Amino acid sequence: MKIHVNGSEYSLNVPDNTSLLDALRVHLKLTGSKYGCGEGMCGSCKVLIDGHAMPSCITPVASVQNKEIITIEGLEKEGQLHPVQQAFLDEDAFQCAYCSSGMIISAVALKARNPKPTRQEIIDAMQGNVCRCCVYPRIMKAISKV
Ligand code: FES
Ligand code: FES
Repeated sequence: MKIHVNGSEYSLNVPDNTSLLDALRVHLKLTGSKYGCGEGMCGSCKVLIDGHAMPSCITPVASVQNKEIITIEGLEKEGQLHPVQQAFLDEDAFQCAYCSSGMIISAVALKARNPKPTRQEIIDAMQGNVCRCCVYPRIMKAISKV
């Protein structure tokens, strides 16, 4: 099968039930998306699928063959971090950073559809992302300032 990731097309020879997360991490060596719960609950594996932040751990790779996938590695352009990535750095919005790529992906999707979200809209949009280090105040600050 063929998938489109970060602007490039890749051919994969994997079983249809392979998760998108395994395809990215194991086969394409894009390890920025993290395995957390494996059940679509924590958000650490989120990637953009046609602009929507989706958990790649429960997404079969076969289901995204005609879709555009963007991972955390694909957000930077010509040496410039995405503004959301830069805001997370500026606000030190991580501790262990295991949740960060999924957090940033969800925030990028939110900002694309709603550039000036209210505090409550940010909270609602980030419900599917869990931070075990509880740096939520700094994450909120980073997303708010973008
Ligand atoms: S690892 Fe995918 S949502 Fe937790
Ligand atoms: S910074 Fe450690 S899980 Fe969020």
